Amino acid sequence: MNYPKPDTTHGVILYMEDVSVSFDGFKALNNLNLYINDGELRCLIGANGAGKTTLMDVITGMTRPDAGTVNFGQNIDLLKLNQEQIARYGIGRKFQKPTVFEALTVYENLYLSLHMDKRLWATLLHKLSGEQRDDIDQVLETIGLVSMRNRYAGELSHGQKQWLEIGMLLAAKPRLLLVDEPAAGLTVQEVERTAELLTSLAGEHSVVVVEHDMSFVRSIAKTVTVLHQGSVLAEGSMDYVQSHPEVKRVYLGEEGV
Ligand SMILES: Nc1ncnc2c1ncn2[C@@H]1O[C@H](COP(=O)(O)OP(=O)(O)OP(=O)(O)O)[C@@H](O)[C@H]1O
Ligand SMILES: [Mg+2]
Repeated sequence: MNYPKPDTTHGVILYMEDVSVSFDGFKALNNLNLYINDGELRCLIGANGAGKTTLMDVITGMTRPDAGTVNFGQNIDLLKLNQEQIARYGIGRKFQKPTVFEALTVYENLYLSLHMDKRLWATLLHKLSGEQRDDIDQVLETIGLVSMRNRYAGELSHGQKQWLEIGMLLAAKPRLLLVDEPAAGLTVQEVERTAELLTSLAGEHSVVVVEHDMSFVRSIAKTVTVLHQGSVLAEGSMDYVQSHPEVKRVYLGEEGV
């Protein structure tokens, strides 16, 4: 089945307007306005509890806002879709903890992610088309795991598992990728490689990255959005937000950045 594509003729792939989410009267998101441009790599920062994960939950249909609008392109109202539909329309999400199948090989993990239906295991019996094989090869190339294709995912380092999981999202050819704290727990080299990987995905994909590691953010970010108490406090280049007095006061200052 073909799903409608997001209409990005205005250059914007995600519109969030006046979005509020309350938990028992506490506003996790408070009249939030956020626009993500088609093909950009956006970093989202903010103190613990600022609402970053809640924002991703809203985009992916896990949490319904009390108020506001959320559109994928100009045409697709995400608030009318469920989680599975949102994934199929082209929004992929990577949670912090890798969730690869450790007892399968790298290749098999990617193979499974090509088939988004519920009968995952049955698909193992099917033959891949040439096009699907090419897709997997291309993803392996992108995530830098060509030489690991026949290794069990359980043997991979934490960083390699993170890349494999990003690859599993890529196999579904998403337009928008949401990535929560990809640098956490990685070695210095793995952090660098992750920065390169996410940077290489921008353009063809739009990528929103939540991360606390400021040197990582600096290394990849063009535009940084700072969330504070469920609203956008500042948005601009890393230099701009780092020198923003309010941002320094409420967030960066306390981390000594
Ligand atoms: N299901 C829920 N029920 C009640 N409160 C919640 C729920 N989910 C989030 N919250 C609260 O909403 C606020 C925002 O949480 P959120 O997880 O979005 O923050 P965050 O910016 O991702 O923080 P962190 O950097 O620690 O991951 C927090 O105060 C949190 O306790
Ligand atoms: Mg979070």
